[in-house]
Amino acid sequence: MRTTPSENREEFAGLLNNIDKTSQDPNISADGPGNSNPYRQRFLFLIPILLLSLITNIITISIIAANPEPYRTHSKYADLHLTHTEPYVLLTDYSSPNTTLADTLWHSINIDSGVVALPDSFATSHNLRTAQRFPWDTSKGIYILHGFHNLHCLKIIYISLFEFREGQTQTRTWHHIAHCLDALRRQIICDADDTPRATERRVEVVSGVGQNRVCRNWGELENWAKAHTSCYRRPEKPEDETGLKRFMHCPEGSGYVVDEGYVPEEEILVGLPEESIATGLAGEV
Ligand SMILES: *[C@@H]1O[C@H](CO)[C@@H](O)[C@H](O)[C@H]1NC(C)=O
Repeated sequence: MRTTPSENREEFAGLLNNIDKTSQDPNISADGPGNSNPYRQRFLFLIPILLLSLITNIITISIIAANPEPYRTHSKYADLHLTHTEPYVLLTDYSSPNTTLADTLWHSINIDSGVVALPDSFATSHNLRTAQRFPWDTSKGIYILHGFHNLHCLKIIYISLFEFREGQTQTRTWHHIAHCLDALRRQIICDADDTPRATERRVEVVSGVGQNRVCRNWGELENWAKAHTSCYRRPEKPEDETGLKRFMHCPEGSGYVVDEGYVPEEEILVGLPEESIATGLAGEV
């Protein structure tokens, strides 16, 4: 895709950059409202209410301060709590102008541990539907954790753009890229994140500076996923290793015995439900 100079300019144009610097609203006076006697009387009437509010606030703050773990909302499956706040930032190394650095980081994203084997008993107790059998323990089903799925999607979109930038042949199908873009689009719509990001009057559009969000710990999710390993490993080139072979990378101490002659007993389901537009993606993890 080639951008014209005017498109580039548009990208960097601030939200309100065309406002006349010298303009001022003549209706806003520098002085506040007058301080006449009726106002003072109303203020005296408010003192007990203000005191009560102050005491209530002190009690609330002391309860919060005494509680070392203020974030309680936990995830449904891995029981992950909100652990920390972090600022919204404009740039991380993933968007570094040093493309060598950014490329290395994006390419090293690994989502293999996000393909997990969960016991059917876990599925029942968590209202999960059962999934295709895990070959080395058929009382378990194979699942892909949603966060890992979405991270995988971002990674393949990056890889596609990387190949475009470098003039290389596209290794991912447009079909797969479109599925991933759509998956991320739907996640954003589903989250309906209502956080107002404060804007600033700058030449470039920036927002959210100095604001924080509350997060879970991705490392904890990875640990939970690894504790439910499905021995899955995806090769850098998807065609290098397919099907059962990808599930033969059991870590030491997993207790699973790999059977190279394993034949699944489940029927292969043909096609996808009508409402799904992602046809032919099964197996393309
Ligand atoms: C870019 O990043 C790479 C990898 O981290 C590093 O080796 C290199 O020195 C960096 N280049 C510049 C110009 O900073």
